[in-house]
Amino acid sequence: MQDGSKHTSQQQDQELRERVALVTGAARGIGLHIAARLAGSGCTVVLTDIDADGAARGAAAIGGTAGALRMDVRDRAGIGDTVRRVLDTHGRIDILINNAGVLAQGAFDQTDGAAWDELVAVNLTGIYNCVQAVAPSMIAHGRGNIVNIASVSAARGGGSVGNVWYGTTKAGVVAITQGLARELGPRGIRVNAIAPAVVDTDMMKPHLTESVRGAICARIPLGRLTHKRDLGELAAWLAGDRSEFITGQTIAVDGGLLCT
Ligand SMILES: NC(=O)c1ccc[n+]([C@@H]2O[C@H](COP(=O)([O-])OP(=O)(O)OC[C@H]3O[C@@H](n4cnc5c(N)ncnc54)[C@H](O)[C@@H]3O)[C@@H](O)[C@H]2O)c1
Repeated sequence: MQDGSKHTSQQQDQELRERVALVTGAARGIGLHIAARLAGSGCTVVLTDIDADGAARGAAAIGGTAGALRMDVRDRAGIGDTVRRVLDTHGRIDILINNAGVLAQGAFDQTDGAAWDELVAVNLTGIYNCVQAVAPSMIAHGRGNIVNIASVSAARGGGSVGNVWYGTTKAGVVAITQGLARELGPRGIRVNAIAPAVVDTDMMKPHLTESVRGAICARIPLGRLTHKRDLGELAAWLAGDRSEFITGQTIAVDGGLLCT
């Protein structure tokens, strides 16, 4: 992206300057990039991650008002404590980005029971835990915005990103997004999801050999992987007022992959 267009898009989400955002899994990858993008628009961002040092490094790199807290999305009690700390410090949480996630690859029988339990615990129960902890304060303020990170794998039960079990948890994220949008819309809270295709992050790196990368790009009409900046721009748009009448949607950022 040209610097000029970045400047313009950040001018357009001026309303984010007043907002407080909590991002899960923000120590690296997509979560870190979304946190930085929101902070770039003046948002006060709290980076949370099971990797406390990574989250602290991310917040230091972002600078300004960005802060970091250790938070394991599987740990319901710990999330309650973290959310209370954020509310004590900032008074409210306007934006919740449910980004923390884990991946499983390979055929159906290559995911053992422990790995399946971990997929469910992080990708699904993690969102349950964070929404249950944060939504009451959003309801009290009559305003809020939740953005979940799903995946194109939700549409086909796995495939390019992750296997059937991973895709199944991400399909659950799509259902959570629709159901919460229906229940929370009347309380002033919008809920949407972003479905990336393949992004070159630590999660995918071990699987992205040159030949795999080439094969994936060949299947994508726009001919490249999803960039983190594609996701940051959409997250900022969904989190801000320019998308005020959009809720319950899962938006694929896949260069047309799902059309093929
Ligand atoms: N990379 C891709 O190709 C891709 C594609 C589609 C969807 N996604 C989704 O995007 C999200 C981010 O993925 P990424 O590629 O940046 O992955 P990543 O592995 O680079 O980063 C994930 C982050 O989540 C954190 N995390 C893991 N378990 C946690 C837990 N229990 N509690 C709190 N934090 C935890 C990790 O420490 C890490 O910082 C995930 O939900 C993933 O499923 C990724």
